[in-house]
Amino acid sequence: MTSSATQTLPPLRTIPPQIASVTDYERYAQERVSEANWAYLNSAAADQITRRDNRQAWDAIRLLNRNLMAMDGGNTELELFGERYAYPIFIAPVAYHRLVHPDGELATALAAQAMQAGMVLSTLSSISLENVATNTATPLWFQLYIQPEKKYTQSLVARAEAAGYKALVVTVDAPVTGMRNAEQRAQFVLPKGVTAANLADMPSPDVCTAVPGTSPIFGSGMVQALPTWDDIAWLVSITRLPVLVKGVLNPKDAQDALRVGAAGIIVSNHGGRVMDTLPATIEALPGVAEKVAGRVPILLDGGIRRGTDIVKALALGASAVLVGLPIIHGLAAAGAPGVAHVLHILRTELELAMVLCGCKNLGEINKEVIWQT
Ligand SMILES: Cc1cc2nc3c(=O)[nH]c(=O)nc-3n(C[C@H](O)[C@H](O)[C@H](O)COP(=O)(O)O)c2cc1C
Repeated sequence: MTSSATQTLPPLRTIPPQIASVTDYERYAQERVSEANWAYLNSAAADQITRRDNRQAWDAIRLLNRNLMAMDGGNTELELFGERYAYPIFIAPVAYHRLVHPDGELATALAAQAMQAGMVLSTLSSISLENVATNTATPLWFQLYIQPEKKYTQSLVARAEAAGYKALVVTVDAPVTGMRNAEQRAQFVLPKGVTAANLADMPSPDVCTAVPGTSPIFGSGMVQALPTWDDIAWLVSITRLPVLVKGVLNPKDAQDALRVGAAGIIVSNHGGRVMDTLPATIEALPGVAEKVAGRVPILLDGGIRRGTDIVKALALGASAVLVGLPIIHGLAAAGAPGVAHVLHILRTELELAMVLCGCKNLGEINKEVIWQT
């Protein structure tokens, strides 16, 4: 499926043996996605500094190995909100999977099921939340964007509950759309046939259409509809599901999330897609972890491309991580098998890193595995 005249290749039928790490998928993905769609998926806000820093911050941290520790009985299991997960890697909510593969989120969820991974489905999924839940048996969480009218938010929550989703992830760091200049330059528009399937009967949110010379954001009607912490408190009050707040970097936001009853926090900068020059997520994690002080689980995403990155996140206070772009690259390159392979690579790298750091379960990963200069 392509959105423009750009010629793209069909998904791979077999996984090339040259693919050894998850970033190896990027090249194969790009060959299979139109230029405009690629600009939407792969770019970040403004000068993409946060996106770059997300990656570089992981690279700058050194691990300290620990040899000859008994690894018998080792595992990567964890429990979150009453559910057991085989390993601490979740598929991050990413909009419109059908931009890269005709089976979209269904293919991704089937891969998650095959690999026993948890998946967070976006409000902006291109296949409805009911369709994904009915056709797969993996533990699903639903990512929620608060809608301008309460009745629509309420309807999404009720639908996610009815469809068996295990948790709600409310994203709070994108009340306005980021200025992704690369995407603007490529003049991306959603191609025909790819829609926000969950929002089919709902009005589209106001977009910025201000006349030059007038106030583009504050002068528009949209600011009145922007959510506040009161809306998150209300959300917690209307659902029986645990609510995680995604997009926290500031310890003050962590404090507010706890105050309004969040069951978990996701340290995230949206992959750098909304506001540029925010800190890398791993730099923000210690401050958030200190404020949360173990009261609720903390998850983290942003630039995770290696099992060693996951060990670092867990050592510095996260219980689990989410992965966005590598999943989309796997899906674009090879459909469900590509996504499954991405998960397999990350899980393998995680287990190797744990053995080499002398940690036989997630509880043993702590600050001692980080090299202190
Ligand atoms: C193309 C794209 C679309 C995204 N859509 C959403 C979304 O609908 N909701 C959301 O909460 N986060 C969204 N995100 C952010 C991801 O959930 C996640 O925070 C980020 O991708 C993590 O960084 P990584 O891609 O480096 O792993 C999106 C990210 C990408 C790349």
